[in-house]
Amino acid sequence: MRTFTLPGTDLVVSDVILGLMRIWDKTDDEIRALVRAGWEAGVNFVDHADIYGGGVEHRCEERFAQALKLTPAERSQLIIQTKCGINLAENYFDFSAQRILTQVEGSLKALQTDHIDILLLHRPDALVEPEEVAQALDQLHQQGKVRYFGVSNHTPNQIELLKTAVTQPLIVNQLQFSIPHASLVTAPLTANMAVLDQSIDRDNGLLDYCRLHQITPQAWSPFQHGFFKGSFIGDRENFAALNDVLDRLAERYQASPIAIATAWILRHPAHWQVVLGTTRPERVQAACQGSEIRLTRPEWYELLKAAGHRVP
Ligand SMILES: NC(=O)c1ccc[n+]([C@@H]2O[C@H](COP(=O)([O-])OP(=O)(O)OC[C@H]3O[C@@H](n4cnc5c(N)ncnc54)[C@H](OP(=O)(O)O)[C@@H]3O)[C@@H](O)[C@H]2O)c1
Repeated sequence: MRTFTLPGTDLVVSDVILGLMRIWDKTDDEIRALVRAGWEAGVNFVDHADIYGGGVEHRCEERFAQALKLTPAERSQLIIQTKCGINLAENYFDFSAQRILTQVEGSLKALQTDHIDILLLHRPDALVEPEEVAQALDQLHQQGKVRYFGVSNHTPNQIELLKTAVTQPLIVNQLQFSIPHASLVTAPLTANMAVLDQSIDRDNGLLDYCRLHQITPQAWSPFQHGFFKGSFIGDRENFAALNDVLDRLAERYQASPIAIATAWILRHPAHWQVVLGTTRPERVQAACQGSEIRLTRPEWYELLKAAGHRVP
């Protein structure tokens, strides 16, 4: 597993992150086996959110802490990231200071820890007041409850707006990105073209913005297509050409297709981290092998085209 120092921090992080959104109904043994598989493959980073829990707030955070019972030494070696800003019960977004502070208290309690390494603002709140966000983040940082901050699903201007008041560095932007769901790279490939749907810029130059501002992008749903429509890996009905290439490259690199799909994201020079969502230890191990594979430029483009994207 390759590691790197997350720009703007003193955190040395793994290329691959274990996303724990789907562990809410797993047993202690299953959660331990999942985290151990990641740990043995070199993953030192887990991703949570206050809303992960099958409809119950903080449930995944709680199940993780209950199952792992981390010693202080283990806790110090693990980077714990969580998120807030979504009101799940009433289906709206909320970046008010009160909501941020309350949810972080809930996460600290559920995670059985005295600090969160990275806190992300989950989805942009249309009613955001940057001054209020700044006040909450400063308070959390001064109290030692959160070390670093970032965002998720934010456009460049939404980040710039936050930065009019927020002085805590925003070091991460977690975004949906996979070979089929790749508008972050495919729209710029067809910039300024009139006839292609692909050329519609849905992300406002977001990936270049992240690179320009040393914001690390993290890819959520790296193996899904659409919005949680299922994994494209092995789905020959919808992604036959892509799976042909994945299988061929897997053979070439003596790895599995999931490792190739991971390597495709990591090959991009924005220095992505890949947030795995699988609950199966063997898939974690297989995906982590992708960190050691550096696809060639022709291979990277071949996968892009096999998913149906245009290189005009
Ligand atoms: N910031 C955000 O807005 C946001 C949104 C969504 C998720 N996230 C984060 O991103 C993480 C990953 O998201 P995700 O769970 O949607 O990602 P994913 O890794 O693309 O999808 C995992 C799901 O696909 C299934 N799957 C089926 N066949 C598979 C195959 N061949 N290979 C791999 N997986 C297969 C897995 O089942 P098995 O468990 O049986 O393997 C699991 O249900 C989450 O845990 C969460 O931490 C963030």
